[in-house]
Amino acid sequence: MSELGHHGRDRLLTLFFPVVVLVASTPGAESATFTIVNECSYTIWPGILSNAGTQQPPTTGFTLQPGQSSAIPFPASWSGRIWGRTSCAQNATTGLFTCQTGDCGSSTVECSGAGAVPPATLAEFTLDGANGLDFYDVSLVDGYNLPMLVAPQGGKGGNCSITGCVADLNPGCPKELQVEGDGMSVACKSACEAFGDAQYCCSGSYSTPSTCKPSAYSEFFKSACPKAYSYAYDDGTSIFTCASADYVITFCPSPSTSIRAAADYPTAATLTDTPAAAGNDGLQVSSGGRTSTAAYVALAAVLAVSFRIRSH
Ligand SMILES: *[C@@H]1O[C@H](CO)[C@@H](O)[C@H](O)[C@H]1NC(C)=O
Ligand SMILES: *[C@@H]1O[C@H](CO)[C@@H](O)[C@H](O)[C@H]1NC(C)=O
Repeated sequence: MSELGHHGRDRLLTLFFPVVVLVASTPGAESATFTIVNECSYTIWPGILSNAGTQQPPTTGFTLQPGQSSAIPFPASWSGRIWGRTSCAQNATTGLFTCQTGDCGSSTVECSGAGAVPPATLAEFTLDGANGLDFYDVSLVDGYNLPMLVAPQGGKGGNCSITGCVADLNPGCPKELQVEGDGMSVACKSACEAFGDAQYCCSGSYSTPSTCKPSAYSEFFKSACPKAYSYAYDDGTSIFTCASADYVITFCPSPSTSIRAAADYPTAATLTDTPAAAGNDGLQVSSGGRTSTAAYVALAAVLAVSFRIRSH
C-alpha cells in the first residue's frame, strides 16, 4: 500500500468513506448457510473458530459420519475458519475427547473458541467484507490434513470461484514434514511448522512479500493444490470473493463432486487451472497462533487494488 503515497492515501480515505456507509446500509447483510459435507470414507469432526468480535454460529464442533451433511446458519458478517478433525475418540478413563489431526485441544467435541493444532487444512471466511463481498480461501499455510473444497452457491459479484485442495497430500508428503499415525502419514506439516525458519515462516527479515518467496516445500503444496494458500504471501491466486452466497464445504470431495460443482457455476475456474504466482495468508484469524500482520497487509492490498479499480 506504500506505493500509493500520500496522495494515494488521501484518495483511499475519501473512497473508503462512502464504501463504509454503503456496506453498513446494505440491506443484503443476511446470514449465509454453510452446508458441510463429509464425502470421506471415515468420520470427520468439523471444527469452527470465529474471529474475535464476530457473532458465533450455533456450533463450534460436531460429528459428521461418512456421507452425512449438515446445514448451518452463519451470522451476517461472520469471519473465521472451518477445518476437519480426524480419528477422534473419547478416552474411556479420562473422558477427554482428542483427535489425531486437527485437534482443537478443548477435550470435547465442541471447540468452544479453540483453533486447530497444525497441521490442518483450513477454509477461511470473511463474510460481508469490503464492497459487501465475502472473502474466502482454503489455506495450507498451517499444513494439511484433509482434502477440502469450498463452493459458493447462488452468489453474484466477485469471482465466486470454487476453491480448495482436492488432492490427498498425505502419501506424497515429504518425509521431513510428515505426521505419522498408525504407521502411515496422516498429515503434512508446513515447512514453517517443521523447521521454524524465518524464511519459511515469513517472519523477521522475511516478513514482506518481496523478501518471503515460495520454497521447494510451499511449491509441493502449490503444485498439488494451485488454488490453495501454500505460504503466507500467496494471495494472488488464493483469495476468492462472492456476494450474498451460501457455501458448500466438502471434505474428501470425489472428482465428480469437483466437476459437478464447476459445472453448476460456469464462472468458476476448475481446480487445476491457474498455476502458482506469489502473494499471503489473507484471511487468517489470529487465534491459531500462527497468524500475522501479513494477513492484514494482504487484505489491505486487496482493498487497495479494488479501490484503485473503483477510482477509475
Ligand atoms: C487414556 O488416557 C490415559 C491417561 O492419560 C492414557 O494412559 C491412556 O493411554 C489413554 N487411552 C487411550 C486409548 O488413548
Ligand atoms: C477474486 O476477486 C477478487 C476481487 O473481487 C480479487 O482480489 C482476487 O484476486 C480474485 N481471485 C483470483 C484468484 O483471481
